[in-house]
Amino acid sequence: MATERTLSIIKPDATKRNLTGKINAKFEDAGLRIVAQKRIHLTKAQAGKFYEVHASRPFYDELCEFMASGPVVVQVLEGEGAIAKNREVMGATNPKDSAAGTIRAEFAESVGENSVHGSDAPETAKDEISYFFAGMELVG
Ligand code: PPS
Repeated sequence: MATERTLSIIKPDATKRNLTGKINAKFEDAGLRIVAQKRIHLTKAQAGKFYEVHASRPFYDELCEFMASGPVVVQVLEGEGAIAKNREVMGATNPKDSAAGTIRAEFAESVGENSVHGSDAPETAKDEISYFFAGMELVG
């Protein structure tokens, strides 16, 4: 399997509860390398642009409001099959459906406030990484 990079976001519900270190330990224990990371506070407009693929969904406004409600940690994870591996470590979107031991099973509060985001495919990963990071910021 090829080495890939994926975009991860530790969401406001998790930064608020000081869970960044515990979540990063889950990534690193799964063999994912954090090759870039920064803590930022998105505006609602910036969150809206990131999630614009969901603009027609009923929860869009609530999602953007939430993502701008506090700091987030945006990061690039690298590893063999990193996109799928990250989504496995994250667990299902709704914590009620997340497998035991996954980040969302342990930490998520609801389907919206679900602690982490991860890219879902190579094209999305490329676009999402470039939304937050310049090439020089990625240190493999
Ligand atoms: S997925 O994994 O893309 O299929 O998940 P999906 O159900 O399409 O959800 C996409 C993102 O929207 C968030 N979400 C919600 N936010 C607020 N309220 C409700 N009801 C809700 N349902 C879904 C969900 O956390 C996903 O966020 P990301 O950051 O993409 O994982």
